[in-house]
Amino acid sequence: MPFTYTASPSGIHYRIEPTRDAMAHGAAEIWVELAREDVEDRGMFSVALAGGSTPRTLYELMESEPFGRRVDWSCVEFFFGDERNVGPEHRDSNFRMARENLFERLPVDVSRIHRMRGEVAGPRSEGSDLRAEAARYAAEISSTLPANDAGIPVFDLVLLGMGEDGHTASLFPHTQALEETELFVAANEVPQLNTHRLTLTLPVLNAARFVMFLCAGKSKAWRAAEILGADSGDCDYPACLVRPDPGRLLWLLDDEAAVQLERRL
Ligand code: 6PG
Repeated sequence: MPFTYTASPSGIHYRIEPTRDAMAHGAAEIWVELAREDVEDRGMFSVALAGGSTPRTLYELMESEPFGRRVDWSCVEFFFGDERNVGPEHRDSNFRMARENLFERLPVDVSRIHRMRGEVAGPRSEGSDLRAEAARYAAEISSTLPANDAGIPVFDLVLLGMGEDGHTASLFPHTQALEETELFVAANEVPQLNTHRLTLTLPVLNAARFVMFLCAGKSKAWRAAEILGADSGDCDYPACLVRPDPGRLLWLLDDEAAVQLERRL
């Protein structure tokens, strides 16, 4: 589907919207069009949802008019890009955020909502529990999605956010999961947060047909400028390493998150 963008020095396509809401609307338009095309062509659309707070407005838009009625939600498979070490009722749960802002008003069969069982990574969990859940979730992805020639499951859309440290999903700087080249889902120790998290790995993120970053707020401005303003190759933040090929990559930013980028370019 055609959409307007600017190419950064590193070749990353991005678009700046004046406000967080406008960014969410732009993301909703792209999501709807991608879903309509894929459901029409293949009878299915798969999406890996981003966690954190930024996607909340997008999820609210998707479950409301006019976006909600433009997609045949019975053909959409929902997965998660990562999950914290909590259960589905916890206030920090990415699943809970999606349930409250996306699923509650969409006609989605629960069998098509594939939850990462973050509670397995809870404070009393053992490493083997984490790895078992990562393996279970990877098998669920592989049994639902088509695979590319390398046998990697291919999402139609992956939504991602970026933390101030340049992390994305639960791929944090200097953590083991960043090095993962075989597993599709990793149980990642995150010393910076003194926790473990479940996360999709770079091979899966980079196999996706379309990856869309949502980046809003002035707290992200410096890192976004480093990532989008970098010449290709000299950026090793986790968010820099998401370069789907042959899939498409688009960063959506609001004015606040783009302020340093515009000064840099
Ligand atoms: C999570 C997300 C994480 C998030 C960024 C940005 O579980 O928190 O997967 O990668 O997208 O931390 O979070 P905000 O949208 O809250 O700024």
